[in-house]
Amino acid sequence: MINSHQINRCLFPVAGYGTRFLPATKAIPKEMLPILTKPLIQYGVEEAISAGINAMVMVTNKHKSAIKNHFKPHLDIEASIKGSAKESLLDEINHIINQCTFTYTEQQQMLGLGDAIYSGRMLIGNETFAVILADDLCVNKGDSVLQQMSELHKKYPDCCIVAIEQVPMSEVDKYGVIAGELLEKNVYQVINMIEKPNPKDAPTNLAIIGRYILSADIFPALENTKVDKNGEIQITDALLSLAKKGKVIAYQFQGKRFDCGSVKGFVSATEHFAKNLILRTI
Ligand code: UTP
Repeated sequence: MINSHQINRCLFPVAGYGTRFLPATKAIPKEMLPILTKPLIQYGVEEAISAGINAMVMVTNKHKSAIKNHFKPHLDIEASIKGSAKESLLDEINHIINQCTFTYTEQQQMLGLGDAIYSGRMLIGNETFAVILADDLCVNKGDSVLQQMSELHKKYPDCCIVAIEQVPMSEVDKYGVIAGELLEKNVYQVINMIEKPNPKDAPTNLAIIGRYILSADIFPALENTKVDKNGEIQITDALLSLAKKGKVIAYQFQGKRFDCGSVKGFVSATEHFAKNLILRTI
């Protein structure tokens, strides 16, 4: 039976330069940096799959061919490890390659997250889709964050959903921040959103992190969004226009997020995975 609320596509904006990780990101995309043996982008794709999604849309730039190569078979390596103890090390990624489609489009200019999402519109079409920022690595013992959001989407099918978490007030200026009315436990009807507010002007410390479920209404909203003072098109500004029509929900998710776009968060994620996984012996 077709589930009309099933989300089919996940968009990954991966066009950023990852300048906080230079020089590592000079030749390697930030999303290919590994937490232990797996690149960030693979964790993101696995989370999308956990939410029942198997069409991955990547918004890249011309320097990101390593991402494309990661989601293609590598016959030479496969031949060289065939029959050895290492053969199974490619099982997970090959399983992903076999069950998903990957399509790519380029963001022409670095005009911000809103523009990156807009750049993917032809590959998304006129349907609700998910967005994962792979540098926000989310973990949870139970359902993944995107799985939790997909469940909520069934209840609020006409709304966009943003994932939020409480951050220290001194750090709100790194995030989009929401103000809202509590609808049910952990779920807010968004009434205001501000991108990177000064802590003294921030309505709350409820910060938007890198998981979204967006209705196709986001594309005309992005078309009508003006560039900000830094020359970027912010997804927060486009979402605010939909929030004013009562169409945005914020969800305080279960689990933990690591900001792997920062060196500090990347180290914490590495520590977390090193502690919680059995390290390979080969
Ligand atoms: P970030 O600002 O965290 O990524 O954007 P960045 O620009 O790559 O990192 P720094 O600050 O230079 O170290 C959040 C996400 O949005 C994507 C990035 O790739 C990242 O996944 N993004 C951002 C785009 O795809 N295009 C943009 O124009 C901006």
